[in-house]
Amino acid sequence: MNRIRPITDPSRPKVYIETYGCQMNVNDSEVILSILQDAGYALTDDIEEASVILANTCSIRDNAEQRIWGRIDQFKLQKRKRDGVVIGIVGCMAERLKDKLLEAVDIVAGPDAYRSLPELLEAVAPDSPQMNVMLSHEETYADITPVRMDRNGISGFISIMRGCNNVCSYCIVPYTRGAERSRDPYTIVQEAKTLFENGYKEVTLLGQNVDSYFWKDAEKADRNVNFAQLLEMVAKISPELRVRFSTSHPKDISDEVIYTMAMYENICKHIHLPVQSGSSIMLEKMRRKYDREWYLERVRKIRSVIPDCGITTDVIAGFSGETAQDHQDTLSLMEQVVFDSAFMFAYSERPGTLASRKYPDDIPYGLKTERLNEIIALQGRMSLKSNEKEIGKTLKVLVEGPSKKNPDELCGRASSNKMCVFPSRGEKAGDYCEVEVVSVTSATLLCKRID
Ligand code: SAH
Ligand code: SF4
Ligand code: F3S
Repeated sequence: MNRIRPITDPSRPKVYIETYGCQMNVNDSEVILSILQDAGYALTDDIEEASVILANTCSIRDNAEQRIWGRIDQFKLQKRKRDGVVIGIVGCMAERLKDKLLEAVDIVAGPDAYRSLPELLEAVAPDSPQMNVMLSHEETYADITPVRMDRNGISGFISIMRGCNNVCSYCIVPYTRGAERSRDPYTIVQEAKTLFENGYKEVTLLGQNVDSYFWKDAEKADRNVNFAQLLEMVAKISPELRVRFSTSHPKDISDEVIYTMAMYENICKHIHLPVQSGSSIMLEKMRRKYDREWYLERVRKIRSVIPDCGITTDVIAGFSGETAQDHQDTLSLMEQVVFDSAFMFAYSERPGTLASRKYPDDIPYGLKTERLNEIIALQGRMSLKSNEKEIGKTLKVLVEGPSKKNPDELCGRASSNKMCVFPSRGEKAGDYCEVEVVSVTSATLLCKRID
């Protein structure tokens, strides 16, 4: 039996899952589906026929949570339409809000409690909502084969670790995901192999801070595995299988990782390296454990070893006490580095974090938005500048499918993670094509065929 694709058996009770937040949540939903399929459920993408409606949620910013409250109201309409519908909130928001959510829905399960979902579903009754928000020091779901919910069967996520041991002062993740733990590397390689054998051409290794991945072998220290070694193990599965990873932490990304990337053609030349701020004063307050100079040195190192490496980032605008000068420092760092792309956010205070206790959220909403907009506008120019440097280069692209705008064209990503569009010769998702960049926008490389 193919265990990695959803079961569509019409006689089974149906589960519908919406996923919010980061890539780790996407993979967690696949773990949840695997657990529920083993318990007799099947997946549906039609909420109207679901007997179990789940939202896998995110707490990273207040607006992420507000969206979920809105969805809960929508889910409740389904309950009114049909008898026996169960609504569950799982993931980070479940962990953060616990009982408060239990007043609104039937099931609340935190990120380490997914194995208990079948029991919770068994026990749930109209006056008896069920909750499990226990965090674990061991759970990595290493033995569970995620049931893949992606559309094209080309690119899959693999969680290599869970939790986070950093205490960035603004961040809720350590509270919702618990302590950091690394997963047995042999199960990771096995999962990547299974994906490859099932036609997948790309895996992305996921963790909040992949550079601190460390597997301690129970018996022999020479069988310990660090992140660079894990990357190599996965890269060796096949040169046809691309390997990506996220997220790298500037304080921890090692030269060994950078050299390992350079050694294997199939390890994609892209590093997501969130900077958060260009001001060393802000970075100190954010407890990022690096400063502006350290960050710029890491970028120089990456580019000296891998000249064409894509570098992307995350930026937070308007953290506590951010002065006009701090903001300028962020802009000047962005101009200096010229990131390929960035996720950019206005600071959102999260209850219970160090920042919420020590550092007042004192930048007025209007000013935060103004700074964020300046950051977004600058990044637009930097993305264009970074893409313009690609003109004339030859790239190997993994086809994702037809381009959205023109069915005679294909789209797919280069090793650097840049999106490419080029004429189709009938290839399908999962094929590799050689192209040359002809012109660019800030979001896309427009290419011609050279193969
Ligand atoms: N582990 C990753 C990031 C995880 S969260 C890392 O350390 O880089 C993803 C991004 O959300 C962060 O990089 C940060 O830019 C943003 N973020 C986290 N907490 C936030 C908050 N309270 N307000 C606004 N943005 C936040
Ligand atoms: Fe949050 Fe920092 Fe951990 Fe990233 S490294 S998840 S920002 S605490
Ligand atoms: Fe959000 Fe949790 Fe991921 S808070 S960003 S879903 S780890």
